[in-house]
Amino acid sequence: MPSVVTLTPAPVIDRTYFVERFDEGKVNRATDQVEFLSGKGLNVSRTLHLAGVATSAVLPIGKEDEHLLFRTPNPQLLRILRVPGRIRVNTQILEPSGRTTNINQKAVPIPADDWDEVVQMTIRELRALAADWLVVSGSVPRMAETGEHLDFDRLFAETRRLGTRIALDTSGSSLARLARSEHINLIKPNADELATLVDRHLHTVGDVLEAAHEVIERNGLEVALVSLGGDGAVAVTARETLWGHATAPRVVNTTGAGDATLAGFVGSSIQGPGRTGGRADFSELPRLTVKRALGAAVTYGALAVSVPTTIMDSLDDAPTPVVEAPDPERELSEPTKVFDVK
Ligand SMILES: Nc1ncnc2c1ncn2[C@@H]1O[C@H](COP(=O)(O)OP(=O)(O)OP(=O)(O)O)[C@@H](O)[C@H]1O
Ligand SMILES: [Mg+2]
Repeated sequence: MPSVVTLTPAPVIDRTYFVERFDEGKVNRATDQVEFLSGKGLNVSRTLHLAGVATSAVLPIGKEDEHLLFRTPNPQLLRILRVPGRIRVNTQILEPSGRTTNINQKAVPIPADDWDEVVQMTIRELRALAADWLVVSGSVPRMAETGEHLDFDRLFAETRRLGTRIALDTSGSSLARLARSEHINLIKPNADELATLVDRHLHTVGDVLEAAHEVIERNGLEVALVSLGGDGAVAVTARETLWGHATAPRVVNTTGAGDATLAGFVGSSIQGPGRTGGRADFSELPRLTVKRALGAAVTYGALAVSVPTTIMDSLDDAPTPVVEAPDPERELSEPTKVFDVK
């Protein structure tokens, strides 16, 4: 079974206010408020932990947010670096009707020295776990001093030197920029993120496959895992093209389904002995079991949408996946959105 280190460069505090009624521009009264630490990499690690996969989650946390760690589930998975100030807060205002209003804060820039320490901590974890995968998830902050993009070169080059594969789940300009780094093995865009990456609308599964081939060739990737919401997911490598689907018992909350999908894929991606370390040439790495990994990906995705919380508490009752050759003619159930990221 593989071992996996996740890195969430910009974790977030999810704060929910419960109100009887929400009036814009007025004073509103909350009946309750909950707050918890959340990060896409952390979600991936929690799901992997449920599946019995060795994992840890690296997160920079604001010194003023440390109290939240006492209430965070699976604290043993966390590898925390304390940075000055507070991390960002995403606020949700929830009405009894289910209507929600969201205020999402931008990622707080990170000082260069702190980023250096995050990189070092991540490399230490990769070594400690003899990790098969590094998963980099969620949005990427800017550098505090200069406002420039964060430098991932050192982290990626060192990860590669260790013989660890890199999976990337981010969006917009960060996805485009980091995918080009020549160190990435896997990206996990959803349909909109893939459409944005190729800068055109995708209407059918055939359009998705064409776009996925284009991005793996253009960026030298090993695999593109494209999640398509209720339409399942496709996995594309230079040799294989597969479509997977699992029927969700019910659809309650789709937030975090992508994280469960990625956890399913990397957690089932290698059979037999994993990394033995120090193999920089990817052709010498354990072979990816793409069909099996895609099956786990869509199973976990379907299970994730059937529970109300972002975090699942059991992988029992996971639906059986179907993995087969894709039908290029199949229409996507929702039109894609292409975002301007220049
Ligand atoms: N309505 C649904 N029915 C069945 N499975 C679903 C449904 N929605 C999502 N899934 C499963 O979850 C996977 C991931 O969903 P989706 O493509 O929406 O990810 P995402 O947009 O990256 O989500 P997020 O970033 O919020 O975690 C899909 O590939 C599919 O397997
Ligand atoms: Mg996603």
